[in-house]
Parts: sequence; C-alpha cells; structure tokens
Amino acid sequence: MDLFEYQARDLFEKHGVPVLGGVVATTPDEARAAAEQLLGAGSSVVVVKAQVKVGGRGKAGGVKIAKSADEAAELAGQILGMDIKGHTVHRVMIAAGADIAEEYYFSLLLDRSERRYLAMCSVEGGVEIEQLAVERPEALAKVAVDPQVGVDEAKAAEIAQAAGFSAEDAPKVADVIRTLWTVFSAEDATLVEVNPLVKAGAGEIVALDGKVTLDANADFRHPEHAELEDKAAADPLEAKAAENDLNYVKLDGEVGIIGNGAGLVMSTLDVVAYAGENHGGVKPANFLDIGGGANAQVMAAGLDVILGDEQVKSVFVNVFGGITACDEVANGIVGALDLLGDAATKPLVVRLDGNSVEKGRAILTERNHPLVTLAETMDGGADKAAELANA
Ligand SMILES: Nc1ncnc2c1ncn2[C@@H]1O[C@H](COP(=O)(O)OP(=O)(O)OP(=O)(O)O)[C@@H](O)[C@H]1O
Ligand SMILES: [Mg+2]
Repeated sequence: MDLFEYQARDLFEKHGVPVLGGVVATTPDEARAAAEQLLGAGSSVVVVKAQVKVGGRGKAGGVKIAKSADEAAELAGQILGMDIKGHTVHRVMIAAGADIAEEYYFSLLLDRSERRYLAMCSVEGGVEIEQLAVERPEALAKVAVDPQVGVDEAKAAEIAQAAGFSAEDAPKVADVIRTLWTVFSAEDATLVEVNPLVKAGAGEIVALDGKVTLDANADFRHPEHAELEDKAAADPLEAKAAENDLNYVKLDGEVGIIGNGAGLVMSTLDVVAYAGENHGGVKPANFLDIGGGANAQVMAAGLDVILGDEQVKSVFVNVFGGITACDEVANGIVGALDLLGDAATKPLVVRLDGNSVEKGRAILTERNHPLVTLAETMDGGADKAAELANA
C-alpha cells in the first residue's frame, strides 16, 4: 500500500525523523485554519501541497508557497480538484515552509532481484532526480544493505560518504538515515523515499517530502496500518472483490470475464478482444481471477461482482479445472443465478474443461437456465460472449 505524503510525514515523526509541521485539509477553509495554526506557531510561510499518490506534484503545479492564511486558502481552492497525472486532488497538506539551503535525495527500497535492500542517496536531490539518474547516474550513490544487518552506524556513514556529503554534513545526514531505516524496518516498508531531504538555514537536516510503500504481506503485524487505507479511492466493486479475496481489475469494455488463474484470465482477455472485432468492437469489461481451488461460494461471489458492473452486457466464464473442480464452478453459477432470481438479466457463456468437466456440464445442462450458454471451446465461448454483448 502506497501512503500519502501526510501519512508518511506522520510515520516519520513517530520514529524521530526530523519533519516540519503539516496539517491535512480538504477544503479552503480548513486550509486557512491550518495555515493560521502554522503561521501562528512561527512559520514565516506555508506550503500548500497536493496529496496524490504520484510523483512530480511540484512540476504539475500542485506545490505552492503562501505568505498568509488567506493566500493558503486561495491556493488550496486552486489545487483541490486539480488532476495530476490522472489523480484527482481531494486533500492538500499545509506544511510549514522551510528555509532551504540545499536539497538532497535519499531512498531505501527492497531490491528483489538481489534479494536485499538498496539505499540510494545524492547531494543533488529535488524535482530533477529522475533526470539526474538518467544523465549522471554516478551522482546517485547506490549502496547495498544486508537485511540481516540493516542500516547500522557504519552503513549509514558509508551511504553518506558515497553520496559525497561534506565532513560537516555527513554525520548529521547519517543520523537521519538511521531514523529512516527505523521507519523502513519497524513499519515493514518496501520503499521509503525522501526527495528532498534538505539542509535548512540553520544547518539542520529535514525531510520535506515522503513516499512510503508498506508491505501488505506484513499487515498481520500491523493492525494499525488498516487505518491508512484510502477507502474513498477504492471502487465499490473492487472493495467487494477484495473482501472475497478475488483478484479483480475494472476495465472499460462490455464483456465480463471470469477465469481461474492469472494466465488463463489474461489469455481470455486477448481472445475476447479479438472476437470483439467481429462484433461491433466490444471489449473485456474486467479481469476477475477466482484463483486455484475455488469453490461454489467463491464462484458465486465472483459472479456477484461482475454482474454488479453496469457496463457489463454479457459474461464469459472460462475455467480450466486443475485443483478447481468444474462441478464446484457449475454449482456456484447455478447457486448465484438462483439467488439473484429475476435480478439476473445478463447472458452468461460458460466454457468448462479439465477436472470434473462432465459433472460440471451435467449440472448446467440439467438446470437449463435461460441465460446460460455452454461453449465447447475457449474461442467459441469468446465469440458467443462478444456476440451477446453486442446484441
Ligand atoms: N515545506 C516546504 N517548504 C519549502 N519548500 C518546499 C516544502 N515542501 C516542498 N518544497 C519545495 O517544493 C519542491 C517539490 O515538493 P515535493 O518534493 O514535496 O513534491 P514533488 O514534486 O511531488 O516531489 P517528487 O517529484 O519527489 O514526487 C521541493 O523540491 C522543494 O523545493
Ligand atoms: Mg518530492
């Protein structure tokens, strides 16, 4: 799970990383109140920052300096509702303004291919870091971190030195790097990135921005992380699918797709898109993987999600039974349709093969539901589903 900057800032503060005051606001009035609070506490300016989970906010006009509370409210009014690379701004953070002497870059991430962590650091941080990494990679130090050891004092000093900090700054930066390592390890993050990490007027090192990705595999160790989830952002159907442990992705077409296993579902998307070319250009409406070993209940939950999508005109269920038994799938389909009764109005094309295929087909044939068509092959099923979606 990716965090918003204000959430990352709060985690930083909790673990002793130096940060400046920051208050989140969802309206210009809230922004004014937050700015009054920060200006009253001694900040000479505040910064209004769009809270979206994407980089490059500054360049997109989502980070602006305000000299008064009224100006902060006005800027918040401009930034709220803005679209930054496809993300709508619903919140801003009003941050205390820093007196920046220098901007640095620091990140810690999980390096899957090397099976360890990687620290990256540069004395030339700021909004051009991507360009720096491409044009002068030598200016971005990369230091491997052994997960068994972590970032101890020696490793932090090594990182600061590799980045080229002066003898005066290096120990201060190394201290902050250690606290950022604490955030990374204690919170089970896969990414902690600070850009910019700055040297402020009086020489102190401060994290002015924060990107944190938490490892969902460690959620069981962090019940408190559940509160960080951006529930408003989740599509209701995606939320429903997640509740049932289904892998569901909403797409833009008309044919709902259910399959077992990501590989089969992906090839089904291709086959349906191809078949759609002969049927008015219809396309897959979603990607829904019921996974291996799905039972009737999971199948019914999957259908419930797909049929809840208004864009869906027909559904193609494509299951190759391995661990999953086709009779379970058939029972799930029949059960879901019976449960829905008259509310079920969309045609279903079902292709079953593999484990218990005869039993599965027999269940569907016997039920003889008017909305269900049995297909012999994947291509045939895709063609029928596309035809029905275009009818
Ligand atoms: N609290 C602050 N006080 C003063 N200047 C700031 C403050 N926060 C950000 N800035 C300035 O705005 C620039 C952009 O801000 P920030 O890095 O937070 O957003 P960003 O553009 O989304 O970053 P990235 O490109 O890393 O995603 C910073 O490099 C810094 O110069
Ligand atoms: Mg930044």
